[in-house]
Amino acid sequence: MTRVILETARLLFRPHELDDCEPYCAMEQDAEVRRFVGGAPRTREAAEARFRAALASQHDRLGMWATVLKADGRYIGRCGVYPHIQGDFVVPDEGVLAFYLARQYWGRGLASEAASAFVEYGFETLGLRRIVATVQAENWVSERILEKLKFDLVWREEGARTFDHYALLRPERRR
Ligand SMILES: CC(C)(COP(=O)(O)OP(=O)(O)OC[C@H]1O[C@@H](n2cnc3c(N)ncnc32)[C@H](O)[C@@H]1OP(=O)(O)O)[C@@H](O)C(=O)NCCC(=O)NCCS
Repeated sequence: MTRVILETARLLFRPHELDDCEPYCAMEQDAEVRRFVGGAPRTREAAEARFRAALASQHDRLGMWATVLKADGRYIGRCGVYPHIQGDFVVPDEGVLAFYLARQYWGRGLASEAASAFVEYGFETLGLRRIVATVQAENWVSERILEKLKFDLVWREEGARTFDHYALLRPERRR
């Protein structure tokens, strides 16, 4: 039976399953999906290897979950709050918010719906103290989602690609 991690009006989130491999790889092979995350599409082989590695290392609390459109039961991407790793350490009580949807599902407010649900889940259910997110500077749709959720821009990482680092404290701890 499917273990549902979290649900919203239109979406449910569950652990990844082998059957998700095809739609997962299709997303990773789409240059538009990869435009601001990695910058180039993955090959089918690289995408599949990544999928299998992710499948083998799913954890109970923090992770990227299969995102399913409830209306038709289809896998449409992956969203979640995953461990915040810095160097060799996992930052305690923190998580990284991320969202990836297949292109045909963009522009319907689905990522906003997922992100909002995972922020609440991260703070209320997982007891996180802080949630962070990193967005390539030109990825204004993602930045808009974070702005709506009241994330603060903490610092900008300049380089060949520029990244904005955002953070949100658990509400009662916000200054
Ligand atoms: C980023 C991503 C998840 C957004 O998904 P989405 O479901 O289309 O986002 P939403 O529909 O919730 O839109 C978020 C905001 O951007 C706006 N927006 C989205 N697409 C838009 C478009 N084409 N034109 C104008 N505005 C747009 C929405 O109106 C909304 O703002 P609003 O609530 O003020 O109206 C999706 O584009 C994606 O998967 N991209 C590739 C992977 C990626 O970059 N992930 C982010 C890594 S940090």
